[in-house]
Amino acid sequence: MPDVKTYSYDVLVIGAGGAGLRAAIEAANSGVRTGVICKSLLGKAHTVMAEGGMAAAMANVDDRDNWRVHFSDTMRGGQYLNNWRMAELHAREAPDRARELEAWGALFDRTSDGRILQRNFGGHRYPRLAHVGDRTGLEMIRTLQDHGIHQGMDVHMECTVLSILMDGGRVAGAFGYERNNGEFVIWKAKAIVMATGGVGRAFKITSNSWEYSGDGQSLAYRAGADLMDMEFVQFHPTGMVWPPSVRGILVTEGVRGEGGILKNKDGHRFMFDDIPDLYKNQTSDSEEEGWRYVQGDKSARRPPELLTRDHVARCINREVKAGRGSPHGGVFLDIAWIKKYIPKAEDHIRKKLPSMYHQFKELAGIDITREPMEVGPTTHYIMGGIRVDGDSQMSTVPGLFAAGEVAAGLHGANRLGGNSLSDLLVFGKRAGEYAAEFARKNGQGAVDNGQVEAERARALAPLERGASGENPYAIQYELQEKMQELVGIVRVESEMKEAIEVVGRLKERAERAGVAGSRIYNGGWHAAMDLRNLLTVSEAIARCAVLRQESRGAQFREDFQSKDPEWAKYNLITRQDGGGMTVEKRPIPPMPDELKQIIEEMK
Ligand code: FUM
Repeated sequence: MPDVKTYSYDVLVIGAGGAGLRAAIEAANSGVRTGVICKSLLGKAHTVMAEGGMAAAMANVDDRDNWRVHFSDTMRGGQYLNNWRMAELHAREAPDRARELEAWGALFDRTSDGRILQRNFGGHRYPRLAHVGDRTGLEMIRTLQDHGIHQGMDVHMECTVLSILMDGGRVAGAFGYERNNGEFVIWKAKAIVMATGGVGRAFKITSNSWEYSGDGQSLAYRAGADLMDMEFVQFHPTGMVWPPSVRGILVTEGVRGEGGILKNKDGHRFMFDDIPDLYKNQTSDSEEEGWRYVQGDKSARRPPELLTRDHVARCINREVKAGRGSPHGGVFLDIAWIKKYIPKAEDHIRKKLPSMYHQFKELAGIDITREPMEVGPTTHYIMGGIRVDGDSQMSTVPGLFAAGEVAAGLHGANRLGGNSLSDLLVFGKRAGEYAAEFARKNGQGAVDNGQVEAERARALAPLERGASGENPYAIQYELQEKMQELVGIVRVESEMKEAIEVVGRLKERAERAGVAGSRIYNGGWHAAMDLRNLLTVSEAIARCAVLRQESRGAQFREDFQSKDPEWAKYNLITRQDGGGMTVEKRPIPPMPDELKQIIEEMK
């Protein structure tokens, strides 16, 4: 095609966060031609928003830790909907991936005897998060990027993929455009690794930046792949709430890992009021014991602020709704209080949480070594995504692999903090390895020019309609408002059904979207291109959330407030069926006895 550039790879990685880079390193190292596509600049990835650390049972701080405890914590946190094979592989392989990252140059914080330091995080029984202050994700990206660019991969920056090209039932490449000049591109590929991250931009309040519009989930869905467990969206308990321009920006769980406590406007530590049965015997209701736990006392039980994110977010939501919140609609997170127990607390806080200190000082005029922060839940992560094989990470479409947040399975109904960074490395590596193997065994599929032509025409349509078409920003804004309001932390059937109707109407409007200007540096056009993905994932989230008539993990239903053992047996599968979306239950495969036994023992 005259105005379409073409590149050719064995393995094409779409997305250059932790999972994408790790997959690309593995594929390139195995000797196959590897291309990487990033929607923005290399190094700008949501991975950096996992600030507090990477979970890996290295037992550097508490020698009782091992992969079996990590496996059991992950399953419990995910309320047993997890792909148990992924949870097992993750727990077993995370320590090696952490040490490998260190060998590639990551500068982790250190124990006094020089090993990688590990900190506490919600739902992890022992201090398990290898960290670099509160900039762990950033250090991970820096290291992978530095290491990766020497492995012989091509990087295509600022490109958006519009479609997976198919040859019959298998992948043949991808079609998209360069964002700076609007030129169309075909990337031929024998295998593709999808690593595009999450869907946060479907919601109004989010820690995700503009890139996270559900691209990978939607591209895979349209290529015929199964999506799984899309109802489970994680609202991180602590995002900034003030000033409005920074609402949603992450406040790392590392603050609570270092001893931060949550209080309402009356100064009451409300997390003591509601400790779930699943964690009762591990959680303390005494301030002094909780502090000893944070300090590493092995006989102490955790403070309630270190319960799982789904629970902490709901408790905060409850306080705010009951009128006991902070002035700007959050609650107070206090790390300064630790001066009661440690001398020179200011220095300690600045050393352990340098980014948080800086972030609040610069953006909110708050000195966190002296004053509490105002925080509230923010859309952070989706546990659901592309259904993959636990070992190889291949989706239900031959040649299409997925790793990291875009893939489902590891985290079940709720992810433990810190399990995402280790997820990216463990399954990024596996996806790269198996994609390279697939590419070696299979030839290049034929590119269907008809498919390319149809996608090209679709992409150009908003420009042809011009400014008289529907405004894509207005459609996105309305979607975000409605998803936040109707499919947020607390859900009820009537509201979610309303959301599905809204999505239907917005889809029709999106088909009529129009933008002024040309293909060069045209933000409105980019927004129009994202809409199909945002609307697809929003519909999937709402449909699955309606079908799952129970409260489990990140899904809380006001109309079905308990966990239903019957629902523990199923994942929900979303797929495209004749142009429409179907959602069905899929029985969770039986867990092998040896893994069952671990869970029993850990109880
Ligand atoms: O709170 C945090 O630092 C986020 C970590 C994560 O999402 O894993």
